[in-house]
Amino acid sequence: MSETQNYIQEHKQRFLDELCDLLKIASISADPAYSKEVLSCAEMVAKHLTEAGAEQVEICNTKGYPIVYGEKIIDPKLPTVLIYGHYDVQPPDPLELWESGPFEPVVKTTPLHPEGAVFARGSADDKGQFFMHVKAFEAMIKSHTLPCNVKFIIEGEEEVGSVSLGDWITANKEKLKNDVILISDTHIYSKEQPTVTTGLRGLSYVEVEVEGPNRDLHSGLYGGAVPNPLHVLSRMISQLIDEEGKITIDGFYDNVEEVSPEERVEMNKLKDDPEGFKQSIGLKDTEGERGYTTLERTSIRPTLDANGIWGGYIGEGAKTVIPSKAFAKISMRLVPYQTPEEITEKFSRYFHKIAPKNVTIKVTPHHGGMPYVLPIDTDEYKAAKMAMEKAFGTEVLPYRSGGSIPITSLFEQVLGSKSVLMGFGLDSDAIHSPNEHYGLFNFYKGIESIPYFFQYYAELKK
Ligand code: BES
Ligand code: MN
Ligand code: MN
Repeated sequence: MSETQNYIQEHKQRFLDELCDLLKIASISADPAYSKEVLSCAEMVAKHLTEAGAEQVEICNTKGYPIVYGEKIIDPKLPTVLIYGHYDVQPPDPLELWESGPFEPVVKTTPLHPEGAVFARGSADDKGQFFMHVKAFEAMIKSHTLPCNVKFIIEGEEEVGSVSLGDWITANKEKLKNDVILISDTHIYSKEQPTVTTGLRGLSYVEVEVEGPNRDLHSGLYGGAVPNPLHVLSRMISQLIDEEGKITIDGFYDNVEEVSPEERVEMNKLKDDPEGFKQSIGLKDTEGERGYTTLERTSIRPTLDANGIWGGYIGEGAKTVIPSKAFAKISMRLVPYQTPEEITEKFSRYFHKIAPKNVTIKVTPHHGGMPYVLPIDTDEYKAAKMAMEKAFGTEVLPYRSGGSIPITSLFEQVLGSKSVLMGFGLDSDAIHSPNEHYGLFNFYKGIESIPYFFQYYAELKK
């Protein structure tokens, strides 16, 4: 075994203990009540980078939460790998569904993780994953095998739309110059079938409001003669998808990339396991756009989902009322070459169009993001594939993911480099959900794969 891999094996337990300390900090970016925790998490990340051997480590202030930067430049003539990750996490609620505290990490075994998995908010998304890079970097430094320059940016606002990062990278273009961006914030298809993520969907997110009468009404005195905003809204939402599973918004599919039959055959080589899929989420049957497999529906096709609907009385007991207003949050996942601006605009126009004339509609856009694709005929993809094949000892396939990391497309626009999404989670990790966990197998395979990526990438770029 190489020096680097030896170092990793010898320090395994400490790596895990350090990760657990990081997971104890409730760095919830969405909730201002946790701002102290988010800031102290940034400090802990900076401390880890310094201890691992990074230089120029800085906690860079922004209008929002800080970005932690660090670098190790060994030779300006060598390629530079920029590592991106995020130290902020999603809110942990609903708390009552956690089997142990979201910020009290514990290692437990599960049928899928006989080697154990660490349970805590952020374990897979993304603390456990960016921390693999810090530890792989430490291993390369301590064993004197680092073959490339390295830069780190670990941000604290990913879960709220990376609001400050865009401006910050634009203002720091020179400092961030790199050849490739390496990100572990996605998942592999399965432990037996490792994959490199070659695509991410974009996102368009809107909040809608339907206003009927100018005040809440007694449902006995007024019921039967006025539009009920809750009914109107639910009817409108159900109209957004037709019997075939197609989204009905005018022009919604205009710019959708039609993936070639060849590529569809290739991507469906990943064993779609419909029974396991249904079982894992307790469903009798799946549904979706006609003519596409589950794998395709969740990767190369755009989708629309209501994320929350509310209005009226939802407290204890009964209250006979027709609410004045009804609300919903609706997200759309986008594929190349849709853009969030285009889709938000088309949504808004259509939503107004299908509304009955006796209600008032408001559509408020939230942050969105562009889709992203990494072609498989690039050195970036090849280095990742080879690295994971070496660590897992089996063939690695490309895999387009349904999730979104909007900053990847901005990186390409501003910094001109491709992102490689070498994530090691599993879709069963319950990210954004109670009992989030990250397998120790996945954590250690990640740490082992990263130095191989550096090595192969440096060789391919010679
Ligand atoms: N790491 C996830 C995205 C992800 C997870 C992509 C698994 C692929 C596989 C990221 O932290 C995230 O949650 N992104 C958000 C978008 C963001 C704008 C809030 C998402 O996908 O909902
Ligand atoms: Mn993430
Ligand atoms: Mn996330």
